[in-house]
Amino acid sequence: MDTRGGFSSRLGFILAAAGSAVGLGNIWGFPTQVASNGGGAFVLVYIFLTFLLAYPVLMAELIIGRAAQSNIVTALEEVSESKTNIFGTWIKKVSQGIGFWGVLTASLILSFYAIVAGWMIAFAVAPIANLLGLSYLAEWLTSFSASRNLLFCLLFYLLTMSIVQRGVRAGIERWSRRLMPLLLLIIVVLIVYVATLEGAIAGWSLYLKPDFSRVFDSSLLISAMGQAFFSLSLGVGTMLIYGSYISKKENLPKLGVAVTFVDIGIAILAGLLIIPAMFVAEHNGVQIYTTAGQLLSEDTLLFTVLPALFSTMGLAGYIVAIVFFILMTIAALTSSISMLEVPVALAVERHSVARKKATWLIGLVIFLVSVFIIYNFGELFGLVIAITTKYSEPLIGLLLCVFVGWIWRRDLLLKEIKQGFSDVETGIFWLIWPFYVRFICPLIIAVVFYNRII
Ligand code: PFF
Repeated sequence: MDTRGGFSSRLGFILAAAGSAVGLGNIWGFPTQVASNGGGAFVLVYIFLTFLLAYPVLMAELIIGRAAQSNIVTALEEVSESKTNIFGTWIKKVSQGIGFWGVLTASLILSFYAIVAGWMIAFAVAPIANLLGLSYLAEWLTSFSASRNLLFCLLFYLLTMSIVQRGVRAGIERWSRRLMPLLLLIIVVLIVYVATLEGAIAGWSLYLKPDFSRVFDSSLLISAMGQAFFSLSLGVGTMLIYGSYISKKENLPKLGVAVTFVDIGIAILAGLLIIPAMFVAEHNGVQIYTTAGQLLSEDTLLFTVLPALFSTMGLAGYIVAIVFFILMTIAALTSSISMLEVPVALAVERHSVARKKATWLIGLVIFLVSVFIIYNFGELFGLVIAITTKYSEPLIGLLLCVFVGWIWRRDLLLKEIKQGFSDVETGIFWLIWPFYVRFICPLIIAVVFYNRII
């Protein structure tokens, strides 16, 4: 292994990449979208689009990353230099620009993600405060205030930075290995528990019975596509840098499939927990939908419905609440470390900054951006989310497809995939994927993007 560091094993990579993919997007975003977009119909479209669109883009990132053995900026530069073209050095500058745009997007995603993750920690501490009889503290922890947001956001940054500064194996891989299986276990235990409660059946039926008439609903299609993209952490260089840490002996298309399955699997499981939990809460008198059938609000699900559900469980409810919000914090942490790794790897590799120093400095700068968002919450929070996840991620994803499909030399691309997958040329992957990222993916993403702007 060279001095860059890398994942020590296949499982280590899968857990780390799945850790990045699985986060607030799966456990909060996905069930919320399911609840507001026709239940099972959304689930069906989401799974379909993940394989149709997100998996090919994931492969583009992993392959570029492993070939270039570097961060997104250097990697795109290398791809742009792989063949002489009519654009000369101009294309190199554009590649750098796109790379920096990815780094900026990853950093901005972290700036809002850390605020929400901080709420998770606060909601995990609140039941403890209640158990200790400190109800005024619990009230502060669960009410919106700049002081609470600031404190818990800072705490979340400290956790993230302390993992990233240790590097790939001792930090990212070790913690993903510990946290991911624990996460899975906690979700399964909660699913079983919620399934025994009255009202859960209605949730199961909404979730598992698709209303086929909604499958071609355009707003449902657009939401499902955006969710697929954000959920697999695409378009910001996260999967690209994780790809650069994979051994050349590994079969990339197979690893990509494993990560995609884990991501979808956890989203589906989160739905199995949260959708029935919503209906249990409704059964207990908590309002979920408006009279017009709309979900009350996106925050309702996690920060009102679930605590209301937990509070009906007596003493056990306190334990379940603590466990659940710890679970959310864990899921967010394995994602946030992958976001911070993007600018840190750039600083370490391109500007020769020591990893520790890079982690703390960059972490501090992004934290200051979070502070700015916290004090201008109404104006900035939704805006930063929209700019990064709705526009930047799909657009950079589209450009990555263009790099792989049009700019990279085909023989170099094939050579890279052949490492760890020697008979790739005779299989279905090589038959479909190159054509697919060249024409179909850019087209689909362009259509989604166009629709969003319109
Ligand atoms: N995939 C993460 C989630 O579903 O919560 C979010 C995410 C992580 C987006 C890392 C982008 C990223 F670089």
